[in-house]
Amino acid sequence: MKVLVTGGAGFIGSHIVDHLIAAGASVAVVDNLSTGREANLNPQARFYNVDLTDPALREILARERPEAVVHEAAQASVGVSVARPEADAETNIQGTLNLLEAARLVGVRKVVYASSAAVYGEPAYLPVDEVHPVAPLSPYGVSKYTPELYLAAYRQLYGLDYVALRYANVYGPRQDALGEGGVIAVFAERLSRGEHLEVFGDGAQTRDFIHVEDVARANLKALESGSALICNVSTGEPTSINDLVRLLAAVTGGDPAVSYQPAREGDIRHSRLDNLRARRYLDWTPIRELREGLEETLRFYAQNTLE
Ligand SMILES: NC(=O)c1ccc[n+]([C@@H]2O[C@H](COP(=O)([O-])OP(=O)(O)OC[C@H]3O[C@@H](n4cnc5c(N)ncnc54)[C@H](O)[C@@H]3O)[C@@H](O)[C@H]2O)c1
Repeated sequence: MKVLVTGGAGFIGSHIVDHLIAAGASVAVVDNLSTGREANLNPQARFYNVDLTDPALREILARERPEAVVHEAAQASVGVSVARPEADAETNIQGTLNLLEAARLVGVRKVVYASSAAVYGEPAYLPVDEVHPVAPLSPYGVSKYTPELYLAAYRQLYGLDYVALRYANVYGPRQDALGEGGVIAVFAERLSRGEHLEVFGDGAQTRDFIHVEDVARANLKALESGSALICNVSTGEPTSINDLVRLLAAVTGGDPAVSYQPAREGDIRHSRLDNLRARRYLDWTPIRELREGLEETLRFYAQNTLE
């Protein structure tokens, strides 16, 4: 199968590319390397260093003629979206529209889109399923949700099919700890430097940590099955930040120093996504254990310094 992956030099996108190539797909990558890294690029993928909003995207799709598009490229920082909401919308909304136009003009069959738990906002109940109200708390949540609406409209208008995957907190090798990377990346990097861990609030807040390889497998499943489908990609399991510290201590055999800081305003207390839909419609189930995933992530940070 011929697939075009946007954001294929980034954390999640690069794992998807690796899985696609291992499965025998022919892959092209579009990425402007704003947060992605050349080192993440699979050498067997054809690489286009192009911005999502660039009109040249149409020529690239016309040349590549992919059967499907996996759309991971995004401005992925909540903080940046609050500081610069127009720039966030430019990439996540305008950029996605530019991609959808290019895709429908060359007759792409399906788009698999990286959406986010951020679309839900503060959970009204747990675990959050896909019929939970959408009430984003940040410009990022709005700009990740808007493309879901365009996808539905493009399917009606042009028959361009889609699956939108709402990821929980993704972790694993290649995640960027700079800026406001996921807490596991931040902890792993600090441990690799022998620094103490900073916990905001009492550490009893919980998250749903899903390994990047489970996310990559969900994307490959979504290329094969699922039609006009929105589904969560998660473990459905809660892990508190204090649990995480304990697991890291067990894995490293040490006793990491922890400093408790005031809770950050606007942080959600508990977040956990129901994954029954993905199990049912994508025939997917998460298989990576958190402890073993943490060991792997720590090894990655010990061996790689991400500048
Ligand atoms: N990491 C998570 O926990 C998480 C959770 C929910 C959703 N997501 C979504 O998953 C996707 C991948 O996120 P990630 O964590 O791998 O982030 P990332 O920053 O590592 O990857 C994003 C990639 O997109 C590229 N990119 C950004 N703006 C671009 C533009 N205008 N044109 C072309 N390329 C551009 C970057 O260079 C980077 O390679 C994003 O859509 C993000 O919103 C991530």
